Amino acid sequence: TAPLRIAIAGLGTVGAGVIRLLATNAGIISARAGRRIEVVAVSARDRSKNRGVDISGFAWEDDMSALARRDDVDVVVELVGGSDGPALALSRAALSAGKALVTANKAMIAHHGLELAELAEANNVALKFEAAVAGGIPVIKGLREGTSANALTKVYGILNGTCNYILSTMERTGADFADVLAEAQARGFAEADPAFDIEGVDAAHKLAILSAIGFGTRVDFAGVRVCGITQVRAADIAQADALGFVIRLIGEADVEDTEDGPRLLQRVRPCLVARGHPLSAVDGPTNAVVAEGNFSGRLLFQGAGAGDGPTASAVAADLIDIARDEVGAPFSIPVAQLAALPPAEPGHRTERTY
Ligand code: HSE
Repeated sequence: TAPLRIAIAGLGTVGAGVIRLLATNAGIISARAGRRIEVVAVSARDRSKNRGVDISGFAWEDDMSALARRDDVDVVVELVGGSDGPALALSRAALSAGKALVTANKAMIAHHGLELAELAEANNVALKFEAAVAGGIPVIKGLREGTSANALTKVYGILNGTCNYILSTMERTGADFADVLAEAQARGFAEADPAFDIEGVDAAHKLAILSAIGFGTRVDFAGVRVCGITQVRAADIAQADALGFVIRLIGEADVEDTEDGPRLLQRVRPCLVARGHPLSAVDGPTNAVVAEGNFSGRLLFQGAGAGDGPTASAVAADLIDIARDEVGAPFSIPVAQLAALPPAEPGHRTERTY
């Protein structure tokens, strides 16, 4: 069988990780994909930067969008980041040219996922974004395939590794917010602009994607009520501890029935989590997602939410699906069938702890 030929845009930590993974696990991947997955072309800002991987065997494009026009490419892997700009231009161009798209870009999917999914459907190609939510944890697959026979009652969890690292390190060491944030940046899991992490925006991007898949609703990033962790003080953490709780940034979504019909409740905010609840034990840059299905019961997905290896693992899993010709609807059901639910009113329900 002909190999699946891919182009990679963006050769940062994740891009280099994908190249390394495809080479290291080539045998396993060919066996499971039924054919080889071959990198044909790459593009990034700086050609000569040392990334610890050899890119000399791949064609180079200075203009990223040119990857979408290459006849020798079946799939474009977008690892550039940013909700708009070059990432979005490349993604539109790739899908319009009838190429499958794999992306780790949560901001782009949260803002433009429906448009891109419509393009993918119209061109009958795959759009996959497992790596966009919770890094190496197969939570998109888990919700799209694993719990697909269930009505979900709730999806919630720890969706930002940087915030979780900050909160759990402050808790353990009593360190200052700013010092721990600087460490998270140095260790490479914070966003290029860490305001996206600490203000809860990154978690909100991921929650909006999970809601759409979990509840069959249209992606509604604007409807997520967001409060980050910038106001959490060491004293709050100590107070919570004295009461038997830890503080975690939790993203939560559910559909509530109101007198005016169903509403989609999506919120991200620091919460008290009782010691003993599985989420209280989630430390460091780890992510965890809880999904409650009406037949499956409560499921917990936990693992590394960022980093080159875990994120590359999710990207490569999507590539294997595409190599097997598993196109599927990007949001599990066709875009036209996703429900447009108004957001739940603020203050509609009492705050809760976990
Ligand atoms: N900045 C993100 C985080 C990276 O800390 O979780 C993964 O999306």
